Amino acid sequence: MMKLVSCVLFTLAVHAAISQEASESDTYTECTDGYQWDSQTQHCKDINECETIPGACKGEMKCFNHYGGYLCLPRSASVIANNEVSGGAEIDSPSPPQTPPQGPEGELYNPCPQGYEPSQRDTCLDIDECERDLHDCQPSQQCTNTPGSFTCTCPDGYRKIGSECIDIDECRYRYCQHSCVNSPGSFACQCEPGFQLAGNNRSCVDVNECDMGAPCQQRCYNTYGTFICRCDQGYELGQDGFACNDIDECSYSSYLCQYQCQNVPGRFSCVCPEGYQLLGTRLCQDINECETGTHQCTDSQTCVNIHGAYQCVENDRCQEPYVKVADNRCVCPVTKPACRELPFSIVHRYMSITSDRTVPSDIFQIQATSVYPGAYNTFRIRSGDEEGEFYIRQINNISAMLVLSRPVTGPKEYVLDLEMVSVNPLMSYQTSSALRLSVYVGQHSF
Ligand SMILES: *[C@@H]1O[C@H](CO)[C@@H](O)[C@H](O)[C@H]1NC(C)=O
Ligand SMILES: *[C@@H]1O[C@H](CO)[C@@H](O)[C@H](O)[C@H]1NC(C)=O
Repeated sequence: MMKLVSCVLFTLAVHAAISQEASESDTYTECTDGYQWDSQTQHCKDINECETIPGACKGEMKCFNHYGGYLCLPRSASVIANNEVSGGAEIDSPSPPQTPPQGPEGELYNPCPQGYEPSQRDTCLDIDECERDLHDCQPSQQCTNTPGSFTCTCPDGYRKIGSECIDIDECRYRYCQHSCVNSPGSFACQCEPGFQLAGNNRSCVDVNECDMGAPCQQRCYNTYGTFICRCDQGYELGQDGFACNDIDECSYSSYLCQYQCQNVPGRFSCVCPEGYQLLGTRLCQDINECETGTHQCTDSQTCVNIHGAYQCVENDRCQEPYVKVADNRCVCPVTKPACRELPFSIVHRYMSITSDRTVPSDIFQIQATSVYPGAYNTFRIRSGDEEGEFYIRQINNISAMLVLSRPVTGPKEYVLDLEMVSVNPLMSYQTSSALRLSVYVGQHSF
């Protein structure tokens, strides 16, 4: 039986309180108030006045359907179907009597035990207090129907304090490795940037940002909680820590290359001027065009390799009154009167020097080829040194050194006549021979 306990005052309105047993008779078609004939089941069926009567209860009143009638109760009323409640009718019989006794006018009579109600089949059925809203669970609580009663429980994550369900602050229990966010009925663990929640939803594991598309331009290294970008050789990390900017190695030092430095992405390379080739990575080596066959000299010419280029010289360079006696050698016959004041022989030689040599610098050694016993030899520059850039240092009777006395910068060509005068005091005889030396000065210092 349902007992109404007046925790607060409420009005009980009973419009019909007659419990009716359906008749077995086919002819009986009249039902008492609050019931209607169901032709399908051939029984009188309770009318749900709460649904059929518009505005069955007024104002703050709430409608509760009941067998043969309905109840209007304040919304705040507690409807407790509980054995502990005093004043409840003690009914020992678990099964309802065949004929429902008629209670006094205006009162409900329920032959079933508390929490049960008679069904149309002479049995008592459990009342689902939760379903019918006949419970006193707090809004925060969950109502669970039980046979004959119901229970009020708190949802997961809530604890019952007094009659209320209070959210449990799970964050107080240090479930989370990093940070914890409490929420009603639950909580969530959060991880610091660079970490993600592990499968257990509590601990945090490092995120490999490198696998997740970290914005490193070149190399990415994952570290605990973050990542760092690095650059390949020849690049440096930009201000943003992600980009890699090419290093201009050429700007670092002018000694990287012998001639010219060329910056390229990630590295640098040395280039050489025309007529040179790279030797290793930074040095320039003269190309010997005479050996590589790239020269344009004719058959009547001799190719002379010089620094950065080559020269084609005529095989026959003997000029009147000289006559050619061998390659590079001209002789002035004594029979010719013009030869009396001239060196007896001229030998052609070629040499090449680089620009900007340190001075003084020995550049060519002259050696007498024919030596007469007792003769005394002296050497001098006969012509070609108008600016005084050379001098001769005598080594001994038969040899001397041509010395560059001033720095010279090419491209330039000197033609020096170096004369050796031989004096034989015993025979009162003097003779001279010349070495015609072409000195090519290259454009570069290498
Ligand atoms: C972790 O949380 C997710 C999403 O809320 C859930 O699907 C999963 O079952 C949880 N895992 C554990 C171990 O609690
Ligand atoms: C070198 O000159 C000296 C005189 O100064 C002479 O005595 C000597 O014979 C000469 N030697 C040669 C190899 O000409």
